[in-house]
Order: sequence, then C-alpha cells, then structure tokens
Amino acid sequence: MTTRTAVETFQRFRRLRRTEPLRALVRETTLDPGDFVYPIFVAHGRGLREEISSMPGQFRLSPDMLADEARELRSLGIGAVILFGIPRAKDDVGSEAYAADGIVQQAIRALKDADPDLVVITDVCLCEYTDHGHCGVVVRGEVDNDRTLPLLARMALSHVEAGADMVAPSDMMDGRVAAIRRALDEAGYTHVPIMAYSAKGASAFYGPFREAAESAPQFGDRRSYQMDPANAREALREIEADIAEGADIVMVKPALPNLDIIARARQRFDLPIAAYNVSGEYAMVKAAARMGWLDERRITLEVLTAIRRAGADIILTYHAKEAARWLAG
Ligand code: PBG
Repeated sequence: MTTRTAVETFQRFRRLRRTEPLRALVRETTLDPGDFVYPIFVAHGRGLREEISSMPGQFRLSPDMLADEARELRSLGIGAVILFGIPRAKDDVGSEAYAADGIVQQAIRALKDADPDLVVITDVCLCEYTDHGHCGVVVRGEVDNDRTLPLLARMALSHVEAGADMVAPSDMMDGRVAAIRRALDEAGYTHVPIMAYSAKGASAFYGPFREAAESAPQFGDRRSYQMDPANAREALREIEADIAEGADIVMVKPALPNLDIIARARQRFDLPIAAYNVSGEYAMVKAAARMGWLDERRITLEVLTAIRRAGADIILTYHAKEAARWLAG
C-alpha cells in the first residue's frame, strides 16, 4: 500500500480531507441541476398560484403562470419538468386525462411556447382524473389491468400530440410500457422516449402529493398494483420487464427508502436510471427544518447526493430549484 510508510500500521484518510479544495478534488459524487427534473402541478384558472400546505414552497399553477416558471428553471440550469394535472371534473374513466384541451395538454403547450428547449415530461396515470381515485378502470371493485391499457396509451398519445417530449407512466399496470410504445409508434412518434416508473412501491411517502393532486383513492388502497416495499428482487424484475417492453429510462420510487434497489439496478442495467425523491421525503425535510431540528440546506444536498451516489442519473425532486441555487453558491 503506497499511502502507508514502514513505521505506520494505519492509513491516513484525513490527508485528503484537510481543506475544501482537496476534498473537492477527490469527491466521487457531484450534483448538477441538469440532472434534476422539477415536478409541477397544474390546475385550471388564471393567475393561480396556490401553495400546497403539506409541501411548503410548492404550488398549484394555472397555465398562464408557466412561462415565468420556465424562465426561472432555465436560469437555474434545470432543463426538465414533469407535469401533474388537477382536472376540472373527474369521472369513472378519467376523461380529462386524454382530452385535447385537458389541463396537462394546455400546460404542455404553454411551456413549449415559452421555451421550446425545456424538456417537458408528463406523468401518465389516471388517478388524478378518476372520481374513485384509482390509477385504472375499476370493474367490480377491482382495478382492471387490461381495460386500463388503451386509456393510458390514449393519454400518452394526447400528451405527445400537445407537444410533450417524453411520457412517464406511473400507474403500475402490467404491459403499459408496451401499449404506450405501440400507440406512439403507430402515430409516428417513434422518437419520443418513455421514462417508466418501473419499481414504484405502495408507499405512504406519497401522502402530500395526493393532497396536492387531489388523487387519494376513495376506497381501498393501491397495493393491488403498486409494489410491496418489502420486495427487492421483484423490483428488479419490474425494471427488466419495462426495459423489454421498450422503456428508455427506468425509475425507482420513492428514492430514499429504495437506495438499495437503485444501487442494484445500477449494477444490473445500463439504461439511464431515474429516482423520484417524492412528496413525503420533501415534506419531512421541510417540517424538520421549520421546527429548527435540521439544517435544511445541508440535509437537502446530502439527500440528493446519496440518491446520486446510489446510482441514479436523474433525480425528480421538489428541491430542484433551491438545490440549484445552493449549488451555484
Ligand atoms: C400518480 C403518481 C403519484 C406520484 C407520482 N405519480 C401518486 C401515487 O401513486 O399515489 C407520487 C409523487 C410524490 O409523492 O411526490 N400515480
């Protein structure tokens, strides 16, 4: 061992920790705002900028507010957003999800008008649009997988027709990546990538999101389609299946409780891996920081670094803007 002299029997790790420039030189993992995806909730109206109570600093925005948002994001070096919609009305098949003038379709057009280079990703899932709050069509009290697939494909296609650069199915129906890929290809959108929420757990960490998107299930829960958080091998099979169906990017969600899965996926697959640092992870940091129990800036950057170190290339995070500001110094 070259770092050890003959008289010493231990290694001097501290030599490279003495000063910040030395630490910077040997730092293995860095954060870049270009790897962040910022989630935006869009709702009908004009001039709407309504704070989400369980997600301080996050807002429901109307489409006319998005041009400013795009400018701010780009000035911070954040190049991508993911959109979630709150529809005007909900029904049992989530009609607004695939309406040409639906809220997300309007938001896509507003963002692409404001900044054609911003990467606009859309969440593809019915839960925000159905009156029962489930991610698919309910038949006799159960979410029917195969009847949901054509609706998801239709939703994805309508987003792409409105100008979306990428679609991200989060519903956890089996076969949805293949169904969406086929629909996009048949319509001539062979160039539009799919980021699949592949290993998505049935997690209590989505609580604040469901308040934000008004998408809590009205009966039962999502455990018959989202994954049991106890299963890691199954998560890898889900990822493998989505790759086989045509996913271009695979996602693990939520991020912090699944760092082991991110790391295992990183070793096993060579596609870009995304991790979703979800609403509950954000809310925990904000709540503790408000109480004065944690150093908000340090904890946020530590969390994001850990997600990157585990192996994520892309991080979807509500912290994107503040983290970008902190990284800029
Ligand atoms: C839609 C969807 C959810 C999230 C992303 N897409 C909620 C859910 O599955 O209940 C959660 C994101 C977050 O908590 O930040 N199905």
